[in-house]
Amino acid sequence: MSVRPGASRRVVLRGAVLAPVAGVGVSGCKGGADDRSAPLSGPVELGPESEIAEGGAKLYRDHNVVVSRTGDGTLKAYDTVCTHAGCPINKLDGTKLICPCHGSEFDATTGKVLREPAVAPLQPLVVEVENGTMIARPQT
Ligand code: FES
Repeated sequence: MSVRPGASRRVVLRGAVLAPVAGVGVSGCKGGADDRSAPLSGPVELGPESEIAEGGAKLYRDHNVVVSRTGDGTLKAYDTVCTHAGCPINKLDGTKLICPCHGSEFDATTGKVLREPAVAPLQPLVVEVENGTMIARPQT
């Protein structure tokens, strides 16, 4: 099932090597967690699309990606590196993402900020399904 009508399947197939997110540990986040992560730099394989229920969301911490499914079955994905100071978001409560560093909250279905100090929305990603497996990659 294609989840993004304009997305090119060829791009995913060409990316035979699925690069993991390059996590870079940098101290400086004063709110608790010391880890920061780089934004998603290439395609990553997430898991079966059946993991995402309609109206639900799942956080893939290893890749800093959240995927949600709208009421019409469309999948959406966002990079979960916090837009406030770069901490990887590690908690999903329903469809609300909570950053461990300073408490910013985001809507996993839209990427929008629900609670400051973050003010910028999460970075949207492309998510496609190949043979039942979700693959997320940065938008170009
Ligand atoms: S890094 Fe400050 S709230 Fe997320």
